[in-house]
Amino acid sequence: MRGLSGKVAAVTGGGSGIGQAAAIRLAEEGCMLAVIDRSKTGAKATVARIREAGGLAEAIVADVAIEADISAAFASVVDIFGRLDILVANAGIFSAERDGRVHGLDKSVWDDIVGVNLTGMYLSCKHGVAAMRATAGSGAVVLTGSPTGILGCTPGSIAYSSSKGGVHGLARVMAVDYAAEGIRVNVVVPGFTLSPIVHELVADPVVMETMVRSIPLRRGAQPVELSGAIAFLASDDASYMTGSLMFVDGGLTAV
Ligand SMILES: NC(=O)c1ccc[n+]([C@@H]2O[C@H](COP(=O)([O-])OP(=O)(O)OC[C@H]3O[C@@H](n4cnc5c(N)ncnc54)[C@H](O)[C@@H]3O)[C@@H](O)[C@H]2O)c1
Repeated sequence: MRGLSGKVAAVTGGGSGIGQAAAIRLAEEGCMLAVIDRSKTGAKATVARIREAGGLAEAIVADVAIEADISAAFASVVDIFGRLDILVANAGIFSAERDGRVHGLDKSVWDDIVGVNLTGMYLSCKHGVAAMRATAGSGAVVLTGSPTGILGCTPGSIAYSSSKGGVHGLARVMAVDYAAEGIRVNVVVPGFTLSPIVHELVADPVVMETMVRSIPLRRGAQPVELSGAIAFLASDDASYMTGSLMFVDGGLTAV
């Protein structure tokens, strides 16, 4: 893809699933990677895979929901690599068991899920975009959204769905706010993707069958099937795209 070689990219939630696949793909395209995750083991595993393939990567441990952590994380990115060109704001959590319908949803669960999935995205964009403006001066941001932020397709997951709706709004206004500075902002919208985040759904054969039946391609995605779309949105091949939602969902939102 055009314009990725030699760029510095930071991926939050880069220690597993979609973020890990995106970090590896960006490294394959010639980017230097800051793999940010609250899981040290996960971040180090991604970095090891990138280095084994001859790429350049550093693991940075941070919780996206804690501003001091994420501010220090982006300061480290600039210390280590000297600049930031690409931000993949991707870290997120989901819990079918803890989340619920609104009338009984515990506020601490709401705070936890919204705190990571929406406040964490805001904090990553706040400190990531500031680092990008101060160093590269332009760049690309890709946020990971969800069909649940648009459709009522995950009943009983109020906190998760609300957080993802917020992510889409955050991205669209950022796209307008930074267009004149050459910072593009887009959202990748994964469908049902077989990463650890959906382990509760995969473990229940009835839920799994219902999920798969609702997807025209009749299967969940592998995380690697998201990585090309994320790399594309970060690349110069997407130079006229900003404020878009790109669906990679096996047709889930087409029906
Ligand atoms: N898997 C799906 O079906 C699906 C569908 C739509 C959207 N998404 C979104 O994709 C993104 C990536 O999820 P995934 O499927 O790869 O899940 P995953 O569980 O495999 O990976 C999530 C990563 O984020 C990290 N993380 C979680 N909370 C964090 C925090 N507070 N600070 C820093 N890191 C944190 C985890 O340690 C993990 O490495 C999430 O935003 C998720 O909501 C996933």
